[in-house]
Amino acid sequence: MPPRWLIFIALLATIAAVLPFAIVARVRATPDANRGVHIFQDMVFQPKFKTQTKNPLFADQRSMRPAVLGAVARDETYIDAHYWDGTVQGEWAESLPSQLQLTDAFIKRGQERFNIYCSACHGFSGYGNGIVNQRAMALMADTNGPVAGTRWVAAKSLHDPLVREHRLGMLFNIVSNGIRNMAGYQGQITTDDRWAIACYVQALQRSQNASTQDVPPELRKDLSLLKN
Ligand code: HEC
Repeated sequence: MPPRWLIFIALLATIAAVLPFAIVARVRATPDANRGVHIFQDMVFQPKFKTQTKNPLFADQRSMRPAVLGAVARDETYIDAHYWDGTVQGEWAESLPSQLQLTDAFIKRGQERFNIYCSACHGFSGYGNGIVNQRAMALMADTNGPVAGTRWVAAKSLHDPLVREHRLGMLFNIVSNGIRNMAGYQGQITTDDRWAIACYVQALQRSQNASTQDVPPELRKDLSLLKN
């Protein structure tokens, strides 16, 4: 066993040896632009203009520059109103924009996207009875429940006569920008897919309002089991 004073000195020496590193680590981890000694510059000092400050380079002295007049963000051009807004000369378009083609695969794509994004509220067949609506109705029915007294706007039936009158371009626009209480899906669904969904909505509407005349003659005999 070494003498006590030796253990004491060894302990002090160990602490003293670690201390400088601890101080350096602490200072490095604390941001402070006014720190006197900058061993590592880390691009702390560089010429720049901060937001809301003056910039004498410009006549109006604003360092936050307004967008150049007439500038259009790439990929956000609204020049092709048919493709981007669903309108042709100010009216709702009745057909697909020229860059898209109405094929089986396109409508199937629309069906898949509809089932992902719309069926939760509107239901797979579009009658507005999706699972979200069912859940909301159940919650509303509980007068002591957590949402008692609130109002629920049910997703509209896509087979409502007024909705069936919507042109393709308007359906596209509703999917893009929403309507009244329904939110838009521009942020989640690509433009092409929103057109595919609009086409599928029309196919769905047609499917629920079809007559025997819509079935090719050679297939009509298969309908004999169904009503009308
Ligand atoms: C979160 C629930 C919800 C989702 C998801 C949803 N909708 Fe809706 N939708 C609504 C509600 C609610 C309304 C009725 C809005 C109102 O009347 O205020 C509505 C209305 C509509 C209408 C009728 C507009 C009119 O003229 O009255 C169409 C068409 C429509 N939605 C299509 C879609 C399509 C296509 C999708 C998928 C991209 C979709 N919705 C996704 C809730 C939803």
